[in-house]
Formats: sequence, structure tokens, C-alpha cells
Amino acid sequence: MKTPQIIGESPLLLLLLLTAVCINGYKPVIIVHGLLDGPKQFKTLSLFITKVHPGTEVTIIDLYDDLCSLKPLWHQVQGFRKAFDAIVQKAPDGVHLLCFSQGGLICRALLSMAPDHKVHTFLSLSSPQAGQYGDTEYLRWVFPDCIKKEVFRICYNRVGQKVSICDYWNDPHQRSRYLRSNSFLSILNGDRPHVHMTAWRENFLRIKKLVLIGGPDDGVITPWQSSHFGFYDSNETIVEMRKQEFYMNDTFGLKMLDARGDLLMCVHSGVKHVQWHSNYTVFRSCIEKWLN
Ligand SMILES: *[C@@H]1O[C@H](CO)[C@@H](O)[C@H](O)[C@H]1NC(C)=O
Ligand SMILES: *[C@@H]1O[C@H](CO)[C@@H](O)[C@H](O)[C@H]1NC(C)=O
Ligand SMILES: *[C@@H]1O[C@H](CO)[C@@H](O)[C@H](O)[C@H]1NC(C)=O
Repeated sequence: MKTPQIIGESPLLLLLLLTAVCINGYKPVIIVHGLLDGPKQFKTLSLFITKVHPGTEVTIIDLYDDLCSLKPLWHQVQGFRKAFDAIVQKAPDGVHLLCFSQGGLICRALLSMAPDHKVHTFLSLSSPQAGQYGDTEYLRWVFPDCIKKEVFRICYNRVGQKVSICDYWNDPHQRSRYLRSNSFLSILNGDRPHVHMTAWRENFLRIKKLVLIGGPDDGVITPWQSSHFGFYDSNETIVEMRKQEFYMNDTFGLKMLDARGDLLMCVHSGVKHVQWHSNYTVFRSCIEKWLN
């Protein structure tokens, strides 16, 4: 009871407190786009953010747009990281990171590799975090004559791994080939153990919250549960996140985040893949409150 009285009796203190809050304001938000899109597609989201949190500095990183988003992911991670570091350097109180679709994997890699990333909330908006295995418009457009069962032939070799989609292509019927030839997701998830695993896990765990957003009507992320770290087993039955080996072994910090209470899941039906970032209902219920 004492504190309110002190504030009540001291207008100056109250004023100081209010000033401190205003100066702190909202943390900058950095947005990373997905496959075959770019900053254009995120104007609406940017407006949503500044509408509810006036004055927020929102940066949609303008790199690897459209066709360039097919470049290999490790290459993109380096590029995005430079742009990211430049923004973070000017944000002493840290930032929030919101990444869409393929961008969610780029961001997770970036967070794993950057020892001083200062990211508070990492929002993963319909990202194939556990991989992708499905025929989609995107796939047909990139590999016109391929059905999903055959894509591994293109993807699981050195040349294939130079196309972003292949970097998270996760064919549940070709596990040993995936482990041998995939050079991105298998490393990021620790499916293939590597020397940096401990350091990457520590780096990743510096985030304060992980918010996973996705839903059954997405239409592109397949299985849609991959947006929440679920994936197919060899019978194409969904194995949920907590039963995944990378979770149980806590290879990159997911289990720890969950134990800390810092892993949040947001599921919405009725949202198609390209609408996640411009749906106001999704914004209000899954995004807004984590951007303080
Ligand atoms: C998980 O741990 C088990 C037992 O230590 C090990 O055999 C397996 O290779 C690990 N898997 C991953 C993905 O780390
Ligand atoms: C796949 O299904 C078969 C037949 O129903 C079953 O014997 C097998 O254990 C299943 N495999 C997995 C990984 O669940
Ligand atoms: C927006 O999200 C709501 C809630 O999930 C959903 O019912 C609606 O269909 C979505 N609208 C669009 C245009 O995606």
C-alpha cells in the first residue's frame, strides 16, 4: 500500500515515472519476409503495429526479395544478419523480431548464431519450422514436373541445397538422405549433431519469448503443424512438437523455452498462407501483446 501513496504524494515522482515510460516507448520491430515476397507485402502489418503502438520503429528488411528469396538460406542468413545488426546497434533496449514463412527459419538461424542479438520476442508467423513436405503452388512453380515423392532427388544433393526450398525440404520417407544431404534444417534443428550446438542453443535461449503462429487452413505450409514444430513420421502421421526428437533432446533450446513458460502457441483456422500478416484478428490475438 505504501508505493501508491508515495506516488500520490509526489507529483514530481509520478511525472518522472511517466517520462521514463514514454522515453522507453515501444521496442523497434524488425520484420523478415518469406519466399517470393518482400517489403511490399508487409505494409499492412506495419500499419497495424503503428496504429496500436504509435511511434514504433518498424523495419521490413529489404533483402532477397521475390526471386532472390530462392537463394540458399545460409547465404541469406548472413545478409539478413548484417542488416539486423545495424538496427540492433541503435536499439539499446532490444528489439522484437517477426518473421514470416521461410523468413522464420532465417531468423531462427540468425538468433542461434548471434551471441548478442537483444531480441525480446521472436514471432514465427506460419513458418515451416520442422520442415516442409507437400505439393504447393510454390513448389509447382519452382519444380514444375515434380511430385512431392520425387523432390528429394532434386533437393538432396549439393546443387539442390543451393535452392532455399530444398534447405528445409523434409521428406519423411527419405530420412537417411535428409540427414546426409540437407545442410540447413538438419543442422539448425540438431538432427545432425555439430560442434556449435551448445553455443547456438545458448544464443537462441536469450530470447524472452517465442510465439508460434499458424493454422490448419494455411494451404502452403505442409503439414501445417510444422508452424508449431510438429511433423510427419514415416507413415505421414503427425508427431506433435513435444514428441519430436529435437524437442526431447533439447538440441536447440525448444524444450527449455517451454519449461521456462516462454513458448506460446497461437492457432487460427480460416487463414490462408498469404493472409497471416494482414489479418487484423490474428494481429490482435497473436501479435500485438508481445510487441511492448
Ligand atoms: C537424441 O538422444 C539420443 C540418446 O542420447 C541419441 O541417440 C539421438 O541421436 C539424439 N537425437 C538427436 C536428434 O539429437
Ligand atoms: C507405420 O504403420 C505401420 C502399420 O500400421 C506400423 O507397423 C508402424 O509402426 C508405423 N510406423 C510408425 C513410425 O509409426
Ligand atoms: C482472419 O482471421 C480470422 C480468425 O482466425 C478468420 O476467421 C478469417 O477468415 C480471417 N480472414 C482472412 C481474410 O484471412
